[in-house]
Amino acid sequence: MPKWLEDAVFYEIYPQSFLDANGDGIGDFEGIIRKLDYIRDLGCNALWINPCFDSPFKDAGYDVRDYKKTAARYGTNDDLKRLFAEAHKRNIRVLLDLVPGHTSEEHPWFLESKKAEPAEYRNRYIWSDSWIYWGNSTVRFIAGEADRNGVYVINFFKCQPALNYGFLNPSEAWQLPTDHPDSLATREALKDIMRFWLDSGCDGFRVDMADSLVKYDDADKSGASAVWRDIRAMLDAAYPEAALVSEWSRPDLSLKNGFHMDFLLDHEGGGYKSLVRNYSVSKEGTIGEDTSYFRKDSRSDITRFLEQYMPWYENTKNDGFISLITGNHDTSRISRGLASRELALFYGMIFTLPGVPFLYYGDEIGMKYLNVPTKEGGYTRTGSRTPMQWSGGRNLGFSQAPADKLYLPVDPSPDAPTVEAQEKDPESLLNTVKALLRLRRAQGDLQSKPNLEILYAQKGSRPAVYRRGSFVMGLNPSSETARIPGLPVPDGGTGVFSIGKGSLDSGTFTLEPQSFVVWRV
Ligand code: NOJ
Repeated sequence: MPKWLEDAVFYEIYPQSFLDANGDGIGDFEGIIRKLDYIRDLGCNALWINPCFDSPFKDAGYDVRDYKKTAARYGTNDDLKRLFAEAHKRNIRVLLDLVPGHTSEEHPWFLESKKAEPAEYRNRYIWSDSWIYWGNSTVRFIAGEADRNGVYVINFFKCQPALNYGFLNPSEAWQLPTDHPDSLATREALKDIMRFWLDSGCDGFRVDMADSLVKYDDADKSGASAVWRDIRAMLDAAYPEAALVSEWSRPDLSLKNGFHMDFLLDHEGGGYKSLVRNYSVSKEGTIGEDTSYFRKDSRSDITRFLEQYMPWYENTKNDGFISLITGNHDTSRISRGLASRELALFYGMIFTLPGVPFLYYGDEIGMKYLNVPTKEGGYTRTGSRTPMQWSGGRNLGFSQAPADKLYLPVDPSPDAPTVEAQEKDPESLLNTVKALLRLRRAQGDLQSKPNLEILYAQKGSRPAVYRRGSFVMGLNPSSETARIPGLPVPDGGTGVFSIGKGSLDSGTFTLEPQSFVVWRV
C-alpha cells in the first residue's frame, strides 16, 4: 500500500475547463501548473486528471487514439512531465485516467483489426465470426461498419470498441478464454501503457469502467478481478508507490482484487445517493422531489447510507480505501440540489470519514450546474464540466480568448461564485473547505485509516454522531435543534471545528439546526 495514501485528499481536474494558459479557449497543462499552489493551499495533495491523451474527443477523451501521446490541445508529453515534476515539488501526486476497456474507433489497433484480413491485432477487439450476429443482452455489438466478416463489441458509445481480455465462460469459437495468448497480449499491452506513464513520473491511475474488462463475467466479476490482481502484482513488484483507484463502486470486490481505492458512485438506490442527489431529473432537466439526507427539509436519516457503507468498510478496511466524492465529471454538480450550507455539512462529513476523499474542481466554491448544449459526448453531463471560475475578470479568469471561442461558456449569472470573492470571505464555502482539510491533514486520526465507530444513527432520526480516535463528530442536517444524550464518550474536551453551533457535554451532544461539529475528547 503506497504510504502517501494515508493522508491523501484528491482534486479531480477536467483539463478542458480548468485554466487556459495560452488563450486558445481550452484548458491546458500549463494552466494546471499555474494553479498547483492553489490546489496545495486548498489542502489537496493529489490530482486525478481526466483523459488527456490523443483522441477524436467523441467522449471527452475516453476514446483514446494514442495512449502514449498527450492531446496537442493540452500540451506535449514533455509538458505533462513538467506538470508531474512541478506537482512533486509541492508534494502533490498525479493520477492519470486509464481507459483499459476500450479505445477510440480511430486507434491504429482498431483500424487494423477491422480490415477484411487484418495482418495484426485480429483478436485485439472482440469480433464475431460472421457479419450477421444477433448477440445477447449482456454485450452490445455493432454491425455493418467494417469490411471484416464480423460484428464487434462496444463498451459505451459506438466509437468505443471493447478491447479483448477474453470471456469468462466462452461458448462460441470466436469468444476467447481469458488465458488465450491474444487475451493475454491485450493485458500486456495495457501494462506497457501503464509502465510508460509511470516511468514518465505519474503516480498511478484512475481506472475507467474497471469491472468491464472480461465479457460474460460472473456476478463477482471474477474474470476482471483476476486481470487486476495480475496488474497489481506488477505494480507491487516494480512501482510499489503507484496507486490505483477504480470506477467500480463495489469496494468488496475491487479492494480485494488489486485496487487501493474505489469510488462510491451515485448508483440508483445506493447508499451514496441517499446522501446527495437523491432526486430524479426529467427530460426537460427539472429536478423531482429531493429526499437526500443533506437536504434540510428532507426528513431522511443516515441509515440507508450506513447500511451499505458499514459492511463494505468493515469487510475491506484492511485491504484499501473507500473514496467518497463531492461529485465528478459524470454526476450533476453537487450544488444542483443543495444550498451552500447543505454543501458545507456534506463536506464536513466526507472529509472526516476514513478512506481517501475526492473533490471535483469547482465544488469547493459551489459552482453551479449549467444548462448548456452537449459538448464532446457529454450530453446532460456537460453542465457539470464548465470552466472553473477563478475571478471576476474576463471569462471569470478561465481564459483570455473571446467568449465565443471558449470550450464551454462560463456561468453567466451575476452571482456566479468565484475563488477570488470567496477567498476574501471568511465564512465562504471555500474557506470552510480549507479549514476542514487543514484539520484533516493535521490530525492522523482524521485521515484515511480505519478507526471509525458509529455512536448514533437511527431510523427516522436526523442527526448522526461518529468517533475517530480522539475526535467525535456531530452532524445535524435538519432545521431543528438535536439533543443526543447517553453517548459513550469521556467528559470534557473541546470543539475544534464547527459549521453552526454545537457542544458535547457529559455525553450529550447538542447540535443547532444545520450544524456539524468536531469535538476533541
Ligand atoms: C466512465 C467515464 O467516467 C465517463 O465519462 C465515460 O463516458 C465512460 N466511462 C466511458 O469511458
